[in-house]
Amino acid sequence: MTLNEIAKKMCAKGKGILAADESTGTIAKRFKSINVENIEKNRLNFRQTLFNSSAMKDFIGGVILFDETIRQKTTLGPSIPELISKHGAVPGIKVDKGAKPLAGSSDETVTEGLDSLRERLKEYYDLGARFTKWRAVYKISNKFPSVQSIKSNAHALARYAALVQEAKMVPIVEPEVLMDGSHNIDKCYQVTTNVLNECYNELEIHKVDLNGTVLKPNMIISGSECKDKSSAEEIAKKTLDCLKKNVPAEVPGIAFLSGGQSEIESSKNLNEINKINDTNFLITFSYGRGLQASALKEFGKNQENTENIQKAFNHRAKMNGLSSKGEWSEELEKEFAA
Ligand code: 13P
Repeated sequence: MTLNEIAKKMCAKGKGILAADESTGTIAKRFKSINVENIEKNRLNFRQTLFNSSAMKDFIGGVILFDETIRQKTTLGPSIPELISKHGAVPGIKVDKGAKPLAGSSDETVTEGLDSLRERLKEYYDLGARFTKWRAVYKISNKFPSVQSIKSNAHALARYAALVQEAKMVPIVEPEVLMDGSHNIDKCYQVTTNVLNECYNELEIHKVDLNGTVLKPNMIISGSECKDKSSAEEIAKKTLDCLKKNVPAEVPGIAFLSGGQSEIESSKNLNEINKINDTNFLITFSYGRGLQASALKEFGKNQENTENIQKAFNHRAKMNGLSSKGEWSEELEKEFAA
């Protein structure tokens, strides 16, 4: 398959990406919230339960894994990447080493992980990965994000993407403008515009073939502490407008992060965006919390109750699959709840 074909498979209409690539530190926080011990056995159990659910085949085009997970063998027989491929989804891998303090700027980060990346990519390819993820993080405040943070993160994202394409995999380019703060939706629009512009500038300098990439952006949304909440219609209109103005048309797929929105909010907003999508971009989800929060709760109640865990996951995957076609509705959520 060409990189363009892989990207389109990951974001195929009605499907999206499951971001199950929480680092050991991040999954520790998720497990703490449900009183589950953060040990390898439990991490494997939770993840293989999701990857073996019936929703995989119909609604999941790709799964992003963490280094530990891509090397694991399931207790069901196949390795984790084999289990994912068996259900028709593409296995992927988070390759960044996290957001680290940016020297010269207080309170901002630059994402690290370029050292030895070429060698690591070869190993991940051999383990079955066909796409990768790198997440840059931008904070909004009176003085942030700084030009320094916008430029250094875009440069790293572009060097990462070029190496990934050299290794014959699709890079997911994830510049996440955080929801934290009291800023309004227009501030988010303006910052996201600057961030996307600089990213595509650097991707061009580094000769990245945009046909073989997927963008993973934030939606255009007000800060979590902003009193002025926007409607889903406004979020959709501003998000699509920002993407049309700042993302080159060659990019085949755009898969949003949920970024702290609730499960229902992230489905509803994605649905509104697809209702008015008049572009050629395949617009879908690449959710972590937006797909896993309910399943995680069920896992916390009883780790062995595969049926309930999968039921919760199947529902969210189906809802987001519908949102990727603009066919989700509040009634479907109510029916399921009842
Ligand atoms: P959330 O959907 O929970 O924001 O996670 C997506 C992700 O992969 C962040 O890098």
